[in-house]
Amino acid sequence: MKALKYLLASSLISVFLVVSFGLNSVSAKEAIPPGGSHDGVDVPQPIEFPHNIHVEDNGINCMYCHTYARRSKVAGIPPTSKCMGCHKIIATDKPRIQKLTEYWTKGESPRWKKVHDLPDFVHFTHERHIKRFVFDQDYPVEDVKEICAFCHGQLKEMTVANKVKPLNMGWCVSCHEANGGPGDCWKCHK
Ligand code: HEC
Ligand code: HEC
Ligand code: HEC
Ligand code: HEC
Ligand code: HEC
Repeated sequence: MKALKYLLASSLISVFLVVSFGLNSVSAKEAIPPGGSHDGVDVPQPIEFPHNIHVEDNGINCMYCHTYARRSKVAGIPPTSKCMGCHKIIATDKPRIQKLTEYWTKGESPRWKKVHDLPDFVHFTHERHIKRFVFDQDYPVEDVKEICAFCHGQLKEMTVANKVKPLNMGWCVSCHEANGGPGDCWKCHK
């Protein structure tokens, strides 16, 4: 019921915005998602981490694990202690969980390999984007995955995290143009 009310309200708002300001308006609070895709390859990880089981099947919020996304440049990868909060008791008979437990017992973390990696001369920050598309417009935090999906695709369907968006300059700039983000070179380049 709450979700339905939100849907109704937000579709009314978008109709209002399109009519009164036009699609490219800076004051439009609704997001215009960027187009474009990228054919990602599976990055070999020390343990295949299934986003689908955690997000889709068990309803865990992206920001429960990627806790820094709302307040810093990086989103952060959760420490093994966070996994063990559940996996001391959940699925302990599964080989991947046994491997995870081995790391933890030794006081180590799996060395997760990067899937997304911008060149060092590009400045990017999660905080500003999450603020703009979630908190500034009272977007429901439980649906934040749909905002993450603008730039990362649908992790909730992935058995292995993949890069599925271009993340190149033209793509960043096109979203800035559509949603009122900065266009100055120095904002994105140090
Ligand atoms: C239970 C914890 C957990 C949840 C919930 C979770 N993730 Fe992750 N995520 C991880 C771990 C661990 C990795 C590192 C392993 C990997 O890259 O496959 C990761 C990797 C990623 C990466 C790739 C990082 C890189 O190297 O570029 C992205 C992007 C990501 N997650 C986004 C999301 C989004 C979006 C959601 C919600 C739809 C989400 N995650 C939910 C634990 C989680
Ligand atoms: C909030 C609880 C929770 C947290 C935190 C959590 N998991 Fe899970 N995980 C689950 C549940 C529930 C399942 C499904 C278990 C089942 O199917 O029996 C699962 C399944 C898995 C599986 C698949 C096991 C298999 O082979 O079927 C892996 C691998 C895994 N988790 C790794 C991790 C890692 C790594 C972390 C930390 C980054 C993590 N989990 C954090 C709840 C959690
Ligand atoms: C506006 C685009 C955008 C949005 C929205 C976005 N990300 Fe990212 N994300 C990126 C880019 C670009 C990188 C690569 C950064 C780099 O290499 O410096 C990245 C990297 C990551 C990483 C790996 C490195 C890190 O920053 O810790 C994780 C995990 C991640 N994102 C999770 C998320 C989650 C979870 C959300 C939603 C809460 C989200 N992202 C929303 C663009 C975005
Ligand atoms: C979904 C649309 C979207 C995408 C994709 C996107 N941005 Fe943004 N970005 C915005 C908006 C809108 C703002 C302005 C936010 C605000 O000021 O409230 C912004 C702000 C920024 C800022 C903050 C500038 C400042 O004033 O400090 C930087 C840096 C930035 N983006 C870099 C990037 C880079 C690099 C990429 C590509 C990897 C990217 N963005 C992709 C929409 C997007
Ligand atoms: C919204 C963010 C953003 C803005 C604004 C931006 N860039 Fe970029 N730029 C990027 C990203 C992201 C890359 C990395 C592209 C890649 O890895 O494929 C990049 C790459 C580059 C490169 C390396 C060559 C290339 O094309 O990959 C040059 C040179 C460059 N930018 C110059 C500029 C100049 C000059 C401006 C101002 C007119 C500008 N950029 C504005 C995000 C931005």
